[in-house]
Amino acid sequence: MPETLPLTVPNRATLLAIAAEVGTPVYVYDASVIRHAYRAFAEGLAPHPHAIHYALKANSTLALVRLLRSLGAQADANSGGEIEVALRAGFIPDQIVFTGVGKTADELDRAVSLGVKAINAESPGELDRIAARAVAQSTTVRVALRVNPDIDAKSHPHISTGLKTNKFGMPLEQVRQLYRDHARQPGLEPVALHIHVGSQITSLDPLRRAADRAVALARDLRGDGIQIEYLDLGGGLGISYDGTPVPTPAEYAAAILPAVRDTGFSIVVEPGRALVGAAGTLLTRVIDLKQYGDGLRFAVLDAGMTELMRPALYGAFHRVVPVSPREGAEQPYEVVGPLCESSDIFGHDRRLPPLEVEDVMAILDAGAYGSVMASTYNRRPLLPEVLIDGDAWKVIRRRQTIDELLSTEL
Ligand code: LLP
Repeated sequence: MPETLPLTVPNRATLLAIAAEVGTPVYVYDASVIRHAYRAFAEGLAPHPHAIHYALKANSTLALVRLLRSLGAQADANSGGEIEVALRAGFIPDQIVFTGVGKTADELDRAVSLGVKAINAESPGELDRIAARAVAQSTTVRVALRVNPDIDAKSHPHISTGLKTNKFGMPLEQVRQLYRDHARQPGLEPVALHIHVGSQITSLDPLRRAADRAVALARDLRGDGIQIEYLDLGGGLGISYDGTPVPTPAEYAAAILPAVRDTGFSIVVEPGRALVGAAGTLLTRVIDLKQYGDGLRFAVLDAGMTELMRPALYGAFHRVVPVSPREGAEQPYEVVGPLCESSDIFGHDRRLPPLEVEDVMAILDAGAYGSVMASTYNRRPLLPEVLIDGDAWKVIRRRQTIDELLSTEL
């Protein structure tokens, strides 16, 4: 496994300055990596009418959402909270699609009253509830139906969503009937189909097949007299966590565009990870080192599963590298967090140069599903975030204080 800092990670001096001034653990993002990734999607999709709706769930820190908006992105919100963040970041309702496997009455009311670009409905019951709320508000809502295409994304089972045994969407073969029975009621304007088959997908085949199925279904619906305006093909493109090559946004675009060419359907895509994942580094310090009699060597960091849950939750691999590697032979380390859980481990048997307490370490590719999935388990305050842009860097979220952590308790 490559264990050196890739070129995309900001220089060591900047990381050390941030660690010293802001303290660790801290998330650090590089704006240039986000810009680069966004442009790659935009250029790849340029031959076809499209909109790139950034999936806020990957990272919804306001400064990053604003950055993506400034680049031309629109928004994919997965909860009422993410809708509010999208609005505060400057998106207008017409730029927001609202997804979510279980939307509450309050969330639906808010989305209906805003008039979002579409609510992606997950069930016939939800279509009925959206219609009732739209009628009650004397308005009409644009809806998409989320289709479960029964495609294996071949990703981790926890983040594969397109199999017919998964809870997401409605079985493909029921969709025409559903549109006939539920989508043509007062209050609803059916405008799209929505498909999302999973996340961290590293083979283009499932994404291409999902696009094919969406197109075939949309043509059938057109035959039924239901005009589909666009196909929302979801997110899911993976990034390389271990240096193994993965498809680029350009290759992704080249894989899905043939399905929609000359169909008259524009497309929406909802990338999250592929836009922000590689841009983020979790900076942390070694706080303890110990070696057992049998030679097993532990490096305990001041970041743990509370700051980056992916390894504990999915067994996910993230490179961990010292920011200033010391001279000396590499040794195997168990790289662990400080929490009272054996799953709180970032790396098993990692070959690293000699480490000392207080060394600053970088956990790479942590920009997506890192900070947003942080928790305050063990009463650990939420960590700060820094954005590097060119030669400058600034704190975009400060560290939570213990008083803030306790502020909601009566
Ligand atoms: N659209 C929908 C409807 C989604 O459910 C998701 C992700 C996306 C778009 C964005 O997918 P992306 O392009 O980021 O793959 N916490 C997990 C990932 C969960 C993804 C959930 N849905 C992880 O850390 O790997």
